Amino acid sequence: MNEIMQNIIAARDYIQARAQTKPQIAIILGSGLGGLADDVAVEAAFPYGDLPNFPVSTVVGHAGQLALGTLAGKNVVVMQGRFHYYEGYPMTQVVFPVWVMQALGAETLIVTNAAGGLDPVFDPGDVMLISDHINMMGDNPLRGPNLDDLGPRFPDMTNAYDPALRDLVLRVAATQNIPVQQGTYTGWAGPTFETKAERRFLRLIGGDAVGMSTVPEVIAANHAGMRVMGMSAITNKATGSADQQPDDHTHVLAMAKVAGEKLVRLLRSVIQEMT
Ligand code: HPA
Repeated sequence: MNEIMQNIIAARDYIQARAQTKPQIAIILGSGLGGLADDVAVEAAFPYGDLPNFPVSTVVGHAGQLALGTLAGKNVVVMQGRFHYYEGYPMTQVVFPVWVMQALGAETLIVTNAAGGLDPVFDPGDVMLISDHINMMGDNPLRGPNLDDLGPRFPDMTNAYDPALRDLVLRVAATQNIPVQQGTYTGWAGPTFETKAERRFLRLIGGDAVGMSTVPEVIAANHAGMRVMGMSAITNKATGSADQQPDDHTHVLAMAKVAGEKLVRLLRSVIQEMT
């Protein structure tokens, strides 16, 4: 068997030997979204460093964990913290936890992130439902021998973000009076923020938001047959116009918290309504 498949199965078996929860939904919490984890009735949590074959985190204070439990009546597995391509991991390592969560039984992936607003009408603190993405990261997690046990060599990405789940989010948002933007997320390798010219380029090719995550995980999830829902917390204006303000990670994190509070409220209800 392919080495990656063996690694996935070893991580899955390790978790299943220590936790009863059979997750239906996998959730990746991005910057500022940690609040949702507080709502999870946790059965078991595993620091990434304890899990076989998980990427080894090199960044101090960046260590995350995988938590299994229940949230709004559903069995969930939650990634508190993710692995970014800009940290230097190969794409297969970035998406490894998605494969493990799928192997644990999760059929749905909810992915969240912080992103800059390419669309000039977006304001910091806005929430954006991802309708589609453009991979500008210059790499793909499925590059290499195909994992035939998971999915096809040439996966369809026509509805990478499940239309029925998008409808559900919009319905719940309307009911709860939570304003939601919609748009295309462009995946940027980083770790540099984009230049002004790069941002105008990303806008020109159809991007509404830009961030340094999500695209790899969504590709892996689609390949493995999961349905995907994605949400961005808009943290800064990224229009690349003449009045473009310099980027500051501290400001990004502060605004991720503002949008994150809305997002957490929305996601809680969406998960409750999911079938
Ligand atoms: N660019 C890339 N990633 C980001 C941004 C941005 O402007 N804001 C938050 N994450």
